[in-house]
Amino acid sequence: MSYQNKKIADVAELLQKRLEELKDKATILRAIELKALYAELPTLKPEEKAMFGKEINKLKADLANQVAEAHVEGEKLDPIDVTAPFDVNVGNNKPSLLSAEQGSRHPLMTELDKVLSIFYRMGFTAIESRQIDDDYHMFETLNFPKDHPARDDYDTFMTKEGLIAPAHTSTMQNRVLKAGKKDLEAGQPIATVIPGRVFRNEDLDARHEHTFYQLEGVYVSKGINAGNLIATLKTFLEEYYQQELDVKTQPFYFPFTEPSFEFAISCPFCAKKGCPICSYAGWIELLGCGMIHPHVLKMAGIDPNEYTGFAWGMGIDRLVMMKENIEDVRHSESGKLEFLRQFK
Ligand code: DAH
Repeated sequence: MSYQNKKIADVAELLQKRLEELKDKATILRAIELKALYAELPTLKPEEKAMFGKEINKLKADLANQVAEAHVEGEKLDPIDVTAPFDVNVGNNKPSLLSAEQGSRHPLMTELDKVLSIFYRMGFTAIESRQIDDDYHMFETLNFPKDHPARDDYDTFMTKEGLIAPAHTSTMQNRVLKAGKKDLEAGQPIATVIPGRVFRNEDLDARHEHTFYQLEGVYVSKGINAGNLIATLKTFLEEYYQQELDVKTQPFYFPFTEPSFEFAISCPFCAKKGCPICSYAGWIELLGCGMIHPHVLKMAGIDPNEYTGFAWGMGIDRLVMMKENIEDVRHSESGKLEFLRQFK
């Protein structure tokens, strides 16, 4: 294919390339680039018009020929089983007359894999949280007495039978501690991370969504202190954001930790200079954490005089938002293709 006009030659080259890459060859003829060339015709001087018009028609014919050839070749491909599910005919990367844009992995799940692989390297195991739980695990074992006002922060949905959509992954702590008791007795620490989907009764805005993902962490052994907690989180966060970070804690209240902290990192985008992402604060509050309350250990049959530990809960959506500079947490659950396709 050769063309005198540079613009047409460029489009020809582009569509040629696309023809080679795209399985859906017929769309070439409907390409917007081709349409744009036609749209240019009325704007040209009469003496240019004839030549330009002839060349686009030639380009269109050349492409049509190639598409026709591709169809002949296509007939040599596997036949389509019209009774089979759609993905059988288009999937497995096998050449096929049909093609479809395949879906892609959700960016949160891709990032979660990265998060987990860091924790695996740090010696943690992982267990998934659950999406329905009961009062005992959601509140009682976490040291929320009945009718205590702290329950209000975690007030979600409850069925008539008393089953709860968990508001945090801490709902797994008692199970993880109980299961890890034998490891402690064998001289091994409990080192577990717990990713899961959680639900909140929330006023929605760019930073608050009713459904999101959290990653809980639990570490128990002999002689564990808040320094170990801070070092563990700092190590993880520096590895995840691939840069050195400053961290700071400030006192907070959770019923299941004593002391409890809010944990902040220096803004990975501006190194504390202040930018729109950290609202010019230089710091970003990322998670809640603390030393596991002795009562929580006791509820799992672990002697708090012998063992101590720390725990944290961080929002995975927020962690990823901060990495990818995503402006609205609600994109995660929205199923918006224009959002999801950016991470393909
Ligand atoms: N569960 C808390 C929340 O979602 C976060 C949290 C705080 C988890 C302290 C912990 C912890 O394990 O120790 O608000």
